[in-house]
Amino acid sequence: MFIPIESLTAVQADLGDCQRCKLHLTRTNLVFGDGPSNAKIVLVGEAPGADEDTQGLPFVGRAGQLLTKMIDSTAEKGGWPIRRGDVYICNVLKCRPPANRPPEEDEVSACHPFLARQIESVNPKAILVMGNSSSRLLLGDPRLSISKIRGAWHSWRSPNGQDYPVMPTFHPSYLLRGFTDEQKLLAWQDLKVLFSYVYDTVA
Ligand code: URA
Repeated sequence: MFIPIESLTAVQADLGDCQRCKLHLTRTNLVFGDGPSNAKIVLVGEAPGADEDTQGLPFVGRAGQLLTKMIDSTAEKGGWPIRRGDVYICNVLKCRPPANRPPEEDEVSACHPFLARQIESVNPKAILVMGNSSSRLLLGDPRLSISKIRGAWHSWRSPNGQDYPVMPTFHPSYLLRGFTDEQKLLAWQDLKVLFSYVYDTVA
């Protein structure tokens, strides 16, 4: 059994008032992550938006509200003992890129080690990675397309050699931007597969 080598608090303390890339110049708040430090599931998004930058918490804007609804109603319908407050949520980037532009390479390289350490310290049963850019980063393939890989299990090896099951799915922001009902259903389906794995298979 893998025993995490450091606590989330230690990772956050090391990140500190981070100035490792240019995003510290434009951010209001650094958004480290939110949720129980022993959560069974870690959710990974791309980067804080305007609301998250203001509040210092991940997924608190419109995309976050949709995410909460998706988690809570899928879990309730399936009888899984989980709600949004039970998962650990974080982003690839801890600071908001100006005008929500896509993350740049230097920003991702500065932040990635912290994401890896965060995940290792929570040591979840599974990871839900949302959207193209977070999936590309975590799975190490810059060309992958979320619509092709979503819904199927992948794997992420942590720096300490621990393998974690990864379920890629659509980012809730994309679902808000006029995705079809069919695509929305697929995203809900991905959550069902995730919860069933964590609570019915490995619990
Ligand atoms: N989109 C993200 O990827 N992360 C957030 O925290 C909010 C919106």
